[in-house]
Amino acid sequence: MDFVNVADLGRDGLAAVLDLAAAVKADRASVAGSRPGVNVGLFFEKPSLRTRVSCEVAANDLGMKPYVLKNDEIGLGKREAVTDVGAVLDRYLDVLALRVFDHRNLEAIAAVADAPVVNLLSDLEHPCQALADLQTLAEARPLQGATVAFIGDGNNVATSLMIAGAMMGVSVRIAGPAGHEPPEAMLAAARAGATGGAEIVVTGDPAEAVRGADAVYTDVWASMGQEDEAAVRRARFEPYRVDEALFALAGPEAIFLHCLPAHRGDEVTDGVADHPRSRIYDQAENRMHAFKALLLHLTG
Ligand code: CP
Ligand code: NVA
Repeated sequence: MDFVNVADLGRDGLAAVLDLAAAVKADRASVAGSRPGVNVGLFFEKPSLRTRVSCEVAANDLGMKPYVLKNDEIGLGKREAVTDVGAVLDRYLDVLALRVFDHRNLEAIAAVADAPVVNLLSDLEHPCQALADLQTLAEARPLQGATVAFIGDGNNVATSLMIAGAMMGVSVRIAGPAGHEPPEAMLAAARAGATGGAEIVVTGDPAEAVRGADAVYTDVWASMGQEDEAAVRRARFEPYRVDEALFALAGPEAIFLHCLPAHRGDEVTDGVADHPRSRIYDQAENRMHAFKALLLHLTG
């Protein structure tokens, strides 16, 4: 089974991985060294702190062997065809986890590889992030019936969050500037997979999205690879900064979430990022527990 799209696990698989992630966090020793002999490729076409380190530690903890591969050596689609890279790595490795620009490259590799292919972030989705996001929300309150306000760009982090959230009964309200909404097909997928009455709302009004929410989430205004657009995007996203006044509109117990890295002062103020109800470092920690649970799930 692949985890290229967050919906690949199915509702029951997603629930199982989230339960397992909570269990391995509660008792890290319980799974230590439990899967020796599994070789895990971790390929990066873009920079990473959390994903690279958390995935490497997770694999090591399980007794697996992680291999970090950087694109400056591989040359995905340049030195070598994408499908040749996928087919060759598949002969060496038991899990292929990749961070790429173009989501279609993940699908192309999944089509030629027998090993599970895992998305470590693409332009379209960040499913491993969504696992940690839901794990962190579940530590604050039951997922079923929760509401998350996502303020910002409707790309990878937002799309995986809304699809996975809806599968688990979490309503997601997304607020951002016109033209930066999640793709229509992803909105349709989120609504089609929703359970427990979860709703997906798209609005231009951040206050409408945040009012009464159980969690407020934001991400950078210019994603990796969009650095040239930073000035234009800053002007567009300025009304969507999560500051103390906006966060105060959320529910009294609301938590703040951010996938990180954060551009403090842009999409979030220090006052919110460092707020007593900010859970950004728990969320980063949960990337490791969630990936461990995912590896256990995918390798049977
Ligand atoms: N949240 C996340 O994926 O962080 P990195 O880009 O540092 O891996
Ligand atoms: N949207 C951001 C997420 C980083 C984890 C990006 O793609 O750069």
